[in-house]
Amino acid sequence: MSTPPLPPSSGNGPVFLSLGPGPDEQTQLVRPGARADYPPAVLERLTADAAAIVARYPQSRSALIPLLHLVQAEDGYLTPAGIDFCAAQLGLSGAEVAAVATFYTMYRREPTGDYYVGVCTNTLCAVLGGDAILDTLREHLGVEPGQTTTDGTVTLDHLECNAACDFAPVIMVNWEFFDNQTPLSARELVDALRSGEQVIPTRGAPLCTFRQTARILAGFPDDRPGALDGGGGGGEATRVGLRVARERGMAAPDEPEAAASGPAEAGPDREGS
Ligand code: FES
Repeated sequence: MSTPPLPPSSGNGPVFLSLGPGPDEQTQLVRPGARADYPPAVLERLTADAAAIVARYPQSRSALIPLLHLVQAEDGYLTPAGIDFCAAQLGLSGAEVAAVATFYTMYRREPTGDYYVGVCTNTLCAVLGGDAILDTLREHLGVEPGQTTTDGTVTLDHLECNAACDFAPVIMVNWEFFDNQTPLSARELVDALRSGEQVIPTRGAPLCTFRQTARILAGFPDDRPGALDGGGGGGEATRVGLRVARERGMAAPDEPEAAASGPAEAGPDREGS
């Protein structure tokens, strides 16, 4: 895609923003060579899985999000076969399915490696090292964001804020958190992934492959030992604000309608939540 030229700067005049896909965003949903249909045995299995998913919803079209994860678990990304399958199961058009699929960045439009490594390059992570981490991994892996290593193990990408700013800079692997990363730790992380070592996220569930993760996101049980034991809450960088507020007797101003019932206090039940 060519980016339209920006108008010349005019001092304090209007600011023009170029809207549309990012410069490295894959704009084609249908990739050349992508699977166009499923073999009968695969179709039968997917149809049974889809029926179990659809049965959870009062209206079948509400099942589109998990169904997209289901076909992503099958193919590693969205293919014409997957799009058509979702449409057929839910009585939707292919265009309706594609409209949803292209809205959410969790749905991939390119084949995905076993481990989808997303480096947060949003503001806080970027200034604390996210940009440096991404540059390091680009050079170390020899791929650009969105691309997969030749051995098929790692797909590198950059992500927007993962709502984990108090652990910045953050990397997500198959949507599991790796907190407080550095360029060195990021290199060690992808090296471990590529060599098949067991890698433990900082918090949350144990790591599994991208396709296995997609199946869990489709709503199927995660029966792995310890899968539901992982915890995680606010980080120290977040809690320190609450602690300082308490030490200084600070409190949020009353809402006008609540002023008569007394000042709001920083309650102990909020810490660690
Ligand atoms: S900016 Fe990276 S998690 Fe929020």
